Amino acid sequence: MSSSGIIGESRVNDPVTIVIFGATGDLTHRKLIPALYIAFIQDMLPGKFTIVGFARRDYDDAAFQGMMAESIKEFSRIPTEDEAVERFVKHIHYHKGDISSDAAYDELRYKFEDVERFPENRLFYLSIIPDLFETAVRSLKRSRLVDAPGGKQWSRVVIEKPFGRDLESAISLNNTLLQYLDESQIYRIDHYLGKETVQNILSFRFANAIFEPVFNRSYVDHIQITAAETVGMEKGRGGYYDEYGALRDMVTNHLLQLLCLVTMEAPGDLSAESIRNEKVKVLNAMKLDVRKNISDAVCRGQYGGGMDETGKEIKGYLDEDRINPDSDTDTFTAMRLSINNWRWAGVPILLRTGKRMAKKTTEVAVQFKVPPLQLFQQVQCEDDVCDITRIKPNTLIFRIQPNEGIFLKVGTKRPGMRFVVEDVKMDFSYSGKWRNSLPEAYERLLLDTLHGDSTLFTRSDEVAAEWNVVQPILDNLDRLKPYSYEPGEWGAPEADWLFHGVEGKWRNK
Ligand code: BG6
Repeated sequence: MSSSGIIGESRVNDPVTIVIFGATGDLTHRKLIPALYIAFIQDMLPGKFTIVGFARRDYDDAAFQGMMAESIKEFSRIPTEDEAVERFVKHIHYHKGDISSDAAYDELRYKFEDVERFPENRLFYLSIIPDLFETAVRSLKRSRLVDAPGGKQWSRVVIEKPFGRDLESAISLNNTLLQYLDESQIYRIDHYLGKETVQNILSFRFANAIFEPVFNRSYVDHIQITAAETVGMEKGRGGYYDEYGALRDMVTNHLLQLLCLVTMEAPGDLSAESIRNEKVKVLNAMKLDVRKNISDAVCRGQYGGGMDETGKEIKGYLDEDRINPDSDTDTFTAMRLSINNWRWAGVPILLRTGKRMAKKTTEVAVQFKVPPLQLFQQVQCEDDVCDITRIKPNTLIFRIQPNEGIFLKVGTKRPGMRFVVEDVKMDFSYSGKWRNSLPEAYERLLLDTLHGDSTLFTRSDEVAAEWNVVQPILDNLDRLKPYSYEPGEWGAPEADWLFHGVEGKWRNK
């Protein structure tokens, strides 16, 4: 099982029943069902498959199918055809039940005796609040809806983040899950790993020989990763977000995963275990770069109210729905890390993420050192008007979204009589090379779970290692009160301080 890592494009052969817990939730509507529909029309799903929506509300199959058809039409990334949508939704079935009630699972088990309609390979997708993970997994085991691995049929369980809220709870959640399931049956989803551009970091680094020799402390000045969003609290999200905040919502998973991919050593092969072993190794070497005080290495922020460019009022975080009015939850977090290994020792690593920032953008920028001898003058020009600037370092930018691509900033002689250097961007963008829209992360990840490929899913020791990196922040929250920042800015300006002693600043682009 879980050994290929490059299955991707092939069709799933095993007949399967996919059960979605939390089937009336947003993720199901926006992502899961549209992703399965696309897999269906691309002929990636097996000949025999059934999708079961499990939730508490009172629907019958027809009503639920109708809702799912609407979701597909609204959220599919490619234009839909009514006839194909109709054919697809016929595979969907609704099961009304309460996740906490044994009877709901027993009824499902009873239903599943019709193996013609409900194939015995089963994928359970837990799109539910984390407090219910344990109940769901225990009940699945008790009712024999999941079997131990190694039998004729397989059972797998997909879990959505957050995997715990600190190191201790993450370890305890792992232990609980492992009481009922084998590690090989658990797929902890981090949708960033399903993004093409994120996977491309590995390909770019290890399929090309020219960059790897300079990816280390001798040549790299610093690395900065930004995941900025313009949205605030989307409808209904406040309750969850106020409990977790930016650090737990984005850093302990997406941002640290991005960092792993840019800094890990090359795996010996592309198997799930080899890749994840390397990620765990580099995670274990990561530390907050605390000199005297933790606030030298961490900056937390919370957005206040303001106006957008059309003059419309933007609510401050504390005025958003379902937010505690005294909350000191972070809607912005920035930090400085170091990686204590031979390759990266001494290279500052800067991460930041936040809501209500200036732009929706996610990127990883590797900034190289400036040349040892400054022979040229650098200029920054607009048409023919140029300013003399300091020599600019080369920067390699992995643009995760939007405008997906890879850019390399280099200095080039500006045409003319004088020997001056201007920055240009060598630019590869996906849209320039491939016309089709990029697959959604969930399309790839769902197919991987059906193939049994766990390369792009987080292993239990990886989750614990991620929490371990940020645990000192969680232990010191009372010393890290969030600074207020204005919506539409680049988060709390105090985060600039994290660059102390570094040649550079946040790329606010
Ligand atoms: C989710 C977070 O995991 O990622 C959200 O819970 C965030 O708060 C989202 O908005 C961002 O994902 P993307 O793919 O839009 O960068």
